[in-house]
Amino acid sequence: MADCSALEAEGFIASLPRPGDFDKARENVEHFVAHHAKEGNKLAFVTSGGTMVPLEMNTVRYLDNFSTGSRGAISAEQFISNGLCSDIPPQILLLVTLSQNIDSTQTDLLEVSPSGDVVMTTREAIKPVLSKYKIVLSCNKLLLIGYSSLFDYVHYLQLITKLVNNINSIVFLAAAVSDYYIPPEDMSEHKISSPSLKLELQKVPKLLGIVNNDWGPLAYVVSFKLETDSAVLSERARNALRHYGHQLVIANTLSTRKSQVLIIERDKEEVSIVLSPEEAEKGGVIEEKLVGQVCKRHGIYINGLG
Ligand code: PMT
Repeated sequence: MADCSALEAEGFIASLPRPGDFDKARENVEHFVAHHAKEGNKLAFVTSGGTMVPLEMNTVRYLDNFSTGSRGAISAEQFISNGLCSDIPPQILLLVTLSQNIDSTQTDLLEVSPSGDVVMTTREAIKPVLSKYKIVLSCNKLLLIGYSSLFDYVHYLQLITKLVNNINSIVFLAAAVSDYYIPPEDMSEHKISSPSLKLELQKVPKLLGIVNNDWGPLAYVVSFKLETDSAVLSERARNALRHYGHQLVIANTLSTRKSQVLIIERDKEEVSIVLSPEEAEKGGVIEEKLVGQVCKRHGIYINGLG
């Protein structure tokens, strides 16, 4: 992994095009953070989904990291409703991949009417979800910032981590971030039409150390470690914790991520969180337990500093 200094990170991010609505997003985040800081509320900044790496400036083709966005989205719901460990559940800032989540939500809302027209539906099953969503938005408990590319993601990661840098904030990095990209100056401007395609990708600098040391030193930083081989998971997660100095690493294996995760903390035995088949059958989600543990540990962290 290619680590970088704060200065190199600034240079890397400055070399990437900014999302078109960056200034508007900054205004919204500043407003949201200032409002909740005044109220003394806790904040959770959750990143969710994959990061698309474009092959062309006018993008037709791209590479993507695997993520359905479900871990981040369900965790955000749990942060909002979590009363387990705190009398004031955190307010949520959700940085979310637009591609999968918004499209699939919209598709779910479409239905063909008896006359053959495609119409929006208010199916019974989604009514409670939609009304909860409307309530949290109207109470200013949730702010959604959408992104699609790696470029958007790193710009927002830097911006938002700096703005939420406070002991009352949890930075919860569930997004699946690409390790490789094509620098903008090496990208074709228009759709590639060569008979064969050879790609040379550059390593994306790991920004995890910078998140903790430079952009958000006061925040409680939770990162994820994803492996496909469970035999190496625990050791690699512990190495990541040591290397980046985060407060917590959550380790998961791709194939079992919905039923088992490990919580890795400095100088502590690892804790395994399991969702049993019976719990899953009753509609339980592992994020309920996971977020409960994170909130509890964040509370201990704040008390330790106070
Ligand atoms: O979305 P789902 O389908 O529900 O799946 C959830 C998940 C498996 C995507 C999620 O639980 C998860 O593990 N997310 C992190 C995936 C990942 O990028 O893991 P990693 O081991 O490659 O990277 C470790 C950490 O480094 C991550 O927190 C990542 O945000 C960060 N990273 C990675 C690459 C990079 N260039 N810079 C980074 O900062």
